[in-house]
Amino acid sequence: MLRAHLGRLVLAVSASVVTELAALALMGTAAWLLARAAQQPPLAALSLAIVGVRAFATARGVFRYGERLAGHDAALRALATLRGRVYDALVPLAPSGLPAYRSADLLSRMVSDVEAVQDLVVRVLVPVSTAVVVAGVAVGFTALVLPPAAVVLAIGLALAGVVVPLLMVSAARRTARRLAPARAELAERHTDLLHGSADLAAFGATEQALTDAERAGERLARLERGTALTTALGGAGSMLVQGATTVAVTVLALDAGSLAGVMVPVLALVALISFEPVLPLVPAVQRLLESRASMRRVLAVLDARPPVAEPASPLPAPGRDVTVELRSVSVRYPEASRDAVDGVDLRLTPGRRVAVVGTSGSGKSTLLACLMRFIEPSAGTVLLNGHDVRDYDGDDVRAVITGVTQDAHLFHTTIRENLRLARPDASDDDLLGALELARLRDWVSSLPAGLDTEVGEGGGQVSGGQRQRLALARALLADPPVVLLDEPTEGLDPQTADELVADLLATTRGRSTVLVTHRLFGLDGVDEVVVLHAGRVVQRGTHADLVAVAGPYQDLWWASHPAPASK
Ligand SMILES: Nc1ncnc2c1ncn2[C@@H]1O[C@H](COP(=O)(O)OP(=O)(O)OP(=O)(O)O)[C@@H](O)[C@H]1O
Ligand SMILES: [Mg+2]
Repeated sequence: MLRAHLGRLVLAVSASVVTELAALALMGTAAWLLARAAQQPPLAALSLAIVGVRAFATARGVFRYGERLAGHDAALRALATLRGRVYDALVPLAPSGLPAYRSADLLSRMVSDVEAVQDLVVRVLVPVSTAVVVAGVAVGFTALVLPPAAVVLAIGLALAGVVVPLLMVSAARRTARRLAPARAELAERHTDLLHGSADLAAFGATEQALTDAERAGERLARLERGTALTTALGGAGSMLVQGATTVAVTVLALDAGSLAGVMVPVLALVALISFEPVLPLVPAVQRLLESRASMRRVLAVLDARPPVAEPASPLPAPGRDVTVELRSVSVRYPEASRDAVDGVDLRLTPGRRVAVVGTSGSGKSTLLACLMRFIEPSAGTVLLNGHDVRDYDGDDVRAVITGVTQDAHLFHTTIRENLRLARPDASDDDLLGALELARLRDWVSSLPAGLDTEVGEGGGQVSGGQRQRLALARALLADPPVVLLDEPTEGLDPQTADELVADLLATTRGRSTVLVTHRLFGLDGVDEVVVLHAGRVVQRGTHADLVAVAGPYQDLWWASHPAPASK
């Protein structure tokens, strides 16, 4: 990441070094000028030093400006690169790899952790390199004038620039490692408070959640106070060393009989000023520790293994005639003790319609996620037109196999834009057609703003049933050759639900369809019903066959039709 911006970084460090050297030279020259002027020499003897003072003073300002410009330019560019990388790493994790992180934690990794890494450039790399060069020059100059003073100065600089920061490292290491997670925890608590406010209020748990959030805040504050104290102590220690060293150098210079009087203030001021770039090392080390913890969290995201590997050279995208086949497919979620889908076979020739039913947790949604190539089977293969689906690009697969997921998301924008996600060039007539199929057209027409109605964050301003049907309209608009529908009637009253299923089966005729449903009405219209239990296919056949024999399907049927005789 830094390598890409090395040129700018070198520029920033050079500008910073020149700035500090100019400051050092300015003070040295000014001290010499004052001391020499006190001896009242002819003006000509001073003119060079006068020009020097002016030049160094100007150079210091100009180069300071250049250093800020180049340093922040490099840092912000590195920030953009890194944020892009983190985002690129997150994309293949979605959707099934993301639940491993909490959204607030991901946000703090994306925002504050990445910014902490930027700090590494501006507040660590540049100051450390500057301090090393300036300290070297100051010691070198002093050595030329008075070698014993150079030894004292070198010891002082090493104390302030190396020993004190190292002491701090050991003191602050433990807090620094706890700081980034503590920040993330506070962010998580706040997201829970925001998103879960209704549920917390409904169960009278608001007080507890507030207390938890406050505790997380206090923990963070305690850690930060500790860190601040260490930094302050470190800073004070370095300043003490600075003062003591300056006094020692001055005493040595006064004692050295051989030294011209004018050089005493020069050495004293050079010693004093040479600490200027060294003092910020204490906070720099602090930053370094903090950014290391952040860096680790960012790297964890960068190195996260995507749940689905994309092929290096994918097959050309499949056409619209698609045959999909599952061959003894099993899926096991990481850290699960049993397979969520266990040895399932399924064949979807063009136009074939299959319903998948089963109790909650039986693996229906997992099966669809596998078909959409959101997760990789742990055993068995998914074939698309006879080729392993892993040889296709994931997006190409989803261009032909897609639909409504169980928790379909609506975006915080208008109905029109939510639908157009599936087909950006769709006309209003297309949109209304899809809404008609999803039984939403009358509702949308009755809205004052029609298609321009905002649905709110996550569709929060429409009902649950409307949200699900908007997602359905979106899937129908995409018009893939293989349509997957996960509980499209969730949240609807029984009558609308049954009408919708009948409609869906009518409109998706001629298109391969997998319908996951817990309502068994209308399934006489599909070619095959697959009954899942604990990930396994326990029954399969037509509705008529299955309902006639004792078994799970008949049980489900009776459970959803309390008076089967009257139907
Ligand atoms: N992201 C996940 N990580 C770990 N386990 C999961 C994950 N998603 C689902 N599971 C587990 O896999 C099993 C199958 O879940 P799945 O969502 O496929 O069931 P389902 O049949 O769709 O249920 P429902 O009718 O409630 O939607 C369940 O035991 C569930 O706990
Ligand atoms: Mg499900």
